[in-house]
Formats: sequence, structure tokens, C-alpha cells
Amino acid sequence: DRPDALPYDLAGLRVLISAGGTREPLDPVRFLGNHSSGKQGYALGRAAAQRGAEVTIVAGTVSAAGDPAGVDIVGVGSAEQMATEMTKRAADADVVIMAAAVADFRPVSMADAKIKKGDQGPAPIELTTNPDILRGLVEARTEGRIAASTVIVGFAAETGDETGGVLDHGRAKFKRKGCDLLVVNAVGNGKAFGTEDNTGWLLSSGGEETALPPGSKTLMASRILDEIRTLVPDETE
Ligand code: CTP
Ligand code: CA
Repeated sequence: DRPDALPYDLAGLRVLISAGGTREPLDPVRFLGNHSSGKQGYALGRAAAQRGAEVTIVAGTVSAAGDPAGVDIVGVGSAEQMATEMTKRAADADVVIMAAAVADFRPVSMADAKIKKGDQGPAPIELTTNPDILRGLVEARTEGRIAASTVIVGFAAETGDETGGVLDHGRAKFKRKGCDLLVVNAVGNGKAFGTEDNTGWLLSSGGEETALPPGSKTLMASRILDEIRTLVPDETE
């Protein structure tokens, strides 16, 4: 892609993006994690920067090739660390995008020393629920700790199941989260995780539902940014 082929329509906007997976520590050398590559979050960061935005990416585990030029990268490990960084930085952002695959659960405690194999066989791992960062951000905005004008965007990776299809789950999640835009990705059968291409829908708070035809994560990123641009209040009044 030639940067000069992109619109320069995000100039001056501060965009905060979470990307990649989280690592939930078990002991000093082990963690529970996931296969998120961070590619979609990085593609968004790269495209937003090319369109003139000031971009910060709070990155968990990523296997994206190379950090996008002109983007601030803040590395984090666990969901709690990601929550801290995102919550703190959201106060200075115009747009906040939760593209990260945040672990829903973490081990109740982290052992101080490496867990030994012993001869009793494995002990079960007790889990507790992580903070919902996206909901926390929406709540912070409701309570005035984040400006009312801040646009908050979430992602949902759905497979669909016997209770409903991808879009049904996406709609339900959009209601639950209270964000302004939800990017619903159809996953499963090798789709999305670690691959180059995404497909899905954009659900926005006005009630619009836009189908996203299959395309690269770069193309997906520009479509998402186009939609975000329409949600950012105009300051030229
Ligand atoms: N998310 C978050 N904090 C969490 C879990 C998820 O901020 N602890 C964010 C993700 O970054 C994503 C959105 O919430 O933007 C949806 O994540 P998803 O895992 O699809 O939703 P959950 O609410 O965790 O529901 P479930 O996993 O049961 O489908
Ligand atoms: Ca989840």
C-alpha cells in the first residue's frame, strides 16, 4: 500500500489500541495464554498512523512482523496490566480500540517459586475472572473519568453455536458491552486466528450493521477506521 493513497483524515486524533494476547502467570516461568497474533491491532495502528493519527498500542503477546513506524508500543503481560495501562491512557485518547484477546480468567494466585512436578500428579489450577477492560472503559466514560466524546470500539470473535449464529452472538455482545462500535469476526475453520484474512460485520450504536466482505487485515483496518471517523465528533464548530 502507498501511504499517499490513504486519506489523511485522522490528523491530530489520539488513538489507543490494545493488541495481542495476555499472559496469565502461574509461577515465575509459566503462564496461561492464547494464540492471538496481534495482527489486526497492529494493522489498525499502522493504518491510523498513516492517516495522521497519534497512535499508542498496548501490546500483549504478539507475533506481528515488526512494529509499525511512528507508533508508540507499550508492552504488557497479564490482563490486569493491560487494564491498568488502557484505563490510564484512555483519558488522553480520542479513540480507544480493544483489539486484544484478553484472557477471561487467570490463576487465582501466582506461585512465588516454580511449581514442582512432585509425585502426586498435577494439581488443578483454580481460576478467577479477569476485569472486563472494555466494559470498564465504557463505565469510566459514563462516570465522567473519560471524556464523553471518546469513541470506544470492541471486537468479538464468534463461531456461532446451537444457541445462535455469529451475528446473533455479536448483537448480544454489542448490547452487553455498551461500546460505540463492535467489529464482529467470524472465526473457526482456520478463520482469523493467526491468518491474514478476516470476515464479519461492523455493528454501530446508531443501529447500522455493515457486512465486511473477506479481505486482508489491512483492508479490514481501513474499513474499521472509515467507520470510526464517522463516529468522532467534529471539532470544527
Ligand atoms: N475484553 C476485555 N476484557 C476482557 C475480555 C474481553 O476488554 N476481560 C474485550 C476484548 O478485547 C474485545 C471484547 O471485549 O474487544 C469482546 O471480547 P470477547 O472475548 O469476545 O467477549 P467476552 O465478553 O469475554 O465474552 P465471551 O468470551 O464469553 O464470548
Ligand atoms: Ca472472552
